[in-house]
Amino acid sequence: MKHRISVSMLSADFANLQRDIEMVNQSDAAWFHLDIMDGNFVPNLSIGFPVLKAIAKYAAKPLDIHLMINNPDFYIERFCTEAKASYLTVHYEACSHLHRTLQSIKKMNVKTGVSLNPHTSVDLLEDILPETDLVLLMSVNPGFGGQKYIENTYHKVRKLKAMINEKRLNTLIEVDGGVDLSNYKQLIEAGADVLVCGNAIFSTENPLQTIEQLAR
Ligand code: DX5
Ligand code: ZN
Repeated sequence: MKHRISVSMLSADFANLQRDIEMVNQSDAAWFHLDIMDGNFVPNLSIGFPVLKAIAKYAAKPLDIHLMINNPDFYIERFCTEAKASYLTVHYEACSHLHRTLQSIKKMNVKTGVSLNPHTSVDLLEDILPETDLVLLMSVNPGFGGQKYIENTYHKVRKLKAMINEKRLNTLIEVDGGVDLSNYKQLIEAGADVLVCGNAIFSTENPLQTIEQLAR
């Protein structure tokens, strides 16, 4: 299956959000990646429901929502209905009852995602893998866009791909953080299905062209 690009709107121009949404609508990108931070699980705050709803109104592609928040259970219904998530990803490190959390997402008919911080081993997914549609591997410490890619992620992608194949699952592997034109090919070769890109797209002169290159 061909890899997909999920554009992280964290690096978009928030004063011209509709313009940047339209750019992604017209691009070769597959999904919008929306980063939600609570200033508690990660040392930063990002956007909340008013902005998410505004994005959902204009976005013509699936919304891939990445929750970097502690105890996400309280908000799951709202992320699925008001924010119109297609994929809703929670952090392994932020959920005491991950199995239950994934069931609540499934009940809303939304695809489930589990994210791992760089220090968290993919081995810990052994018993939860059949319950999740996507695994998001953080390739930077979550909280900020524009950080440097952590090289050990290639190893994690390969190991996770082997686990998925061994269990005959269709779980997607998504890599998030510091993905750019210098490393995207190697990530696909390692087994990544979805690449999140923010800074690598919005810091360039021609974001449409950069997306086209990354999606090739
Ligand atoms: C970081 C976020 C990422 C971030 C990626 O905590 O989860 O989605 O926006 O941005 P880049 O591509 O700039 O590293
Ligand atoms: Zn993210």
